[in-house]
Amino acid sequence: MYVWVKIVSALMLTSLISTFSSDASDRAFNLGSIATSQQVKGWDIDVRPDGVGAPIGSGTAFDGEEVFAEQCASCHGDFGEGVDRWPELVGGDGTLNTHDPLKTTGSYWPYASTIFDYIYRAMPFGASQSLSYDETYQIVAYLLYMNDIIDDDFVLSDQNIGLIKMPNQDGFLLPDPRPDVSNINGNPCMENCNVPVKIIGKAKDIDVTPED
Ligand code: HEC
Repeated sequence: MYVWVKIVSALMLTSLISTFSSDASDRAFNLGSIATSQQVKGWDIDVRPDGVGAPIGSGTAFDGEEVFAEQCASCHGDFGEGVDRWPELVGGDGTLNTHDPLKTTGSYWPYASTIFDYIYRAMPFGASQSLSYDETYQIVAYLLYMNDIIDDDFVLSDQNIGLIKMPNQDGFLLPDPRPDVSNINGNPCMENCNVPVKIIGKAKDIDVTPED
């Protein structure tokens, strides 16, 4: 069974690869069209924690203040304090393990690159992807500055966005007991990982299985 699954998925993968790499003329069903590299580029906008994917650009908090006031403050407040019920973006330091945690880009978000990715992708609300790369770096720098993570003249760029150490960066390191996963110690099991499974309970025992 397992072997078959492997063979079938290998076949599917092979046909998938050949679908993508062939011309429309020799594809069996000729459905859709091959995405152009420009179309792919439009979707390929993720910025990873280490900064991979960050578009070329830069900006300081000093410049970001004005952009933020124009584009973001109507909802998030001049200083990220949040107008009415719109999300707060600044503050909350040291509140995460309290009764009333305040999760903001400063107190909660683990990577500066995630702030860039999110803002470029989704904000301003209703006009997403209208910011330039430089404007986005400026705004991220402004948020980092207001959260006391960088100085107002620090030039944030594609070169250093992956190096910013965020206060809650380690707050996401949860132990994952699966043996084949790289765990906190960074030692994924690479061979003979079939740890015996011990069944500790059955749905039938607690009578949640429907009769028919
Ligand atoms: C019209 C109101 C509005 C404007 C203008 C606006 N936002 Fe937002 N923002 C929102 C809303 C609503 C959410 C929550 C969206 C959700 O959770 O899906 C949000 C969420 C966010 C978040 C995530 C907050 C969190 O902790 O989850 C960030 C960061 C953010 N906005 C940044 C910006 C920036 C930067 C700008 C300016 C470029 C901007 N926003 C402009 C309404 C707005």
